[in-house]
Amino acid sequence: MRRIDISALVRPNIEKLVAYSSARSEFTGQANIFLDANENPYDEILSYNRYPDTYYSELRSIIAKDLSIDIDQIMLTNGSDEGIDIIVRAFCEPSRDHLMTVEPGFGMFKVVADINDIGYRTYRLNDDYSLDEQGLIDSIAPETKLIFLCSPNNPTGSSISHQFIERLCTEFNGIVIIDEAYIEFSDKGSVVSLINEYNNLIITQTFSKALGAAGIRLGKVIADTEVLVYLNKIRMPYNISTNTSEEALRLLKNEDLKKKMIKEINSEKEDMYQRLDDYDQVIEVYPSDANFYLVKFNGASKIYESLLQAGVVVRSFSRKKGCEDCLRITIGTQEQNNKFYKAMEQIHSNIEINEKSQ
Ligand SMILES: Cc1ncc(COP(=O)(O)O)c(C=O)c1O
Repeated sequence: MRRIDISALVRPNIEKLVAYSSARSEFTGQANIFLDANENPYDEILSYNRYPDTYYSELRSIIAKDLSIDIDQIMLTNGSDEGIDIIVRAFCEPSRDHLMTVEPGFGMFKVVADINDIGYRTYRLNDDYSLDEQGLIDSIAPETKLIFLCSPNNPTGSSISHQFIERLCTEFNGIVIIDEAYIEFSDKGSVVSLINEYNNLIITQTFSKALGAAGIRLGKVIADTEVLVYLNKIRMPYNISTNTSEEALRLLKNEDLKKKMIKEINSEKEDMYQRLDDYDQVIEVYPSDANFYLVKFNGASKIYESLLQAGVVVRSFSRKKGCEDCLRITIGTQEQNNKFYKAMEQIHSNIEINEKSQ
């Protein structure tokens, strides 16, 4: 359990900022004639003529209940990418502060750091993609304001131990952000409940992966209430569209569908591990807690091109530091995965034919 002075970490201009006050949030009481927000008044003809509730109270309360947290401990964003950007802008002074993350890791942290003119430092994972916990703590610099860690990590699929997350929140005098975009696929469990123990811990989650809703663009930022007061000052009013919140409410009512999809993906994932392991071109399949595998190949670039010719696109990380000769393969449906296996077998026999003819 640790509470630090959050106001001392927030950028002074954000501390002082008076957030935009939207028309609909300025009245209290009951009303049914809305002439306050310069909207088009034709409710009966148009379905989206009104601005949404900028607090998204219904959606937030359902998500908060699911996560066993308070409604004031969650903010919704236009994908979790928007949440990452808001966090950086709240805490990091351009040209002075920096954020830290691990390498190989999620590429968006560098992009957001560069956009905001924030320093970007990385700590290299071990060769097996495990984390040298003490090494990371030792490499924290005085300018480090934020540490972003994905658990499970993209692109490696590896996870961070809950004990280490607690240790980091205790020993680091800045903000720890755990990106749980893939948490539903993992059996390691979320650290959401730790926000009640550490007010310097922020968790981001998304509707884009296990929930199957990348197209609606909806992310969650979960943190202590005081932290969210600052982050909400930066969040643009109505950042989630009415369509998005309606679709999210519909999805949240269908818990069975989510469970079924996760179960099927995880079962396909087990099959894929076996299949990949059998291919001669595969050097290593890294263990993964997410819905993908990072795989080291003999001749990754050629395999990438051959798969593409067969109409199968995977993600190449061959040129990424620490992922040389690696491709990241997302688990598809059984039918999609079968096409991938078929393409791999074709590549294998072409190599055999070439070798024999030489
Ligand atoms: C670790 C991680 N965080 C966040 C995101 C982005 O999520 P969203 O679609 O919610 O912006 C991704 C997308 O690939 C990801 O891999």
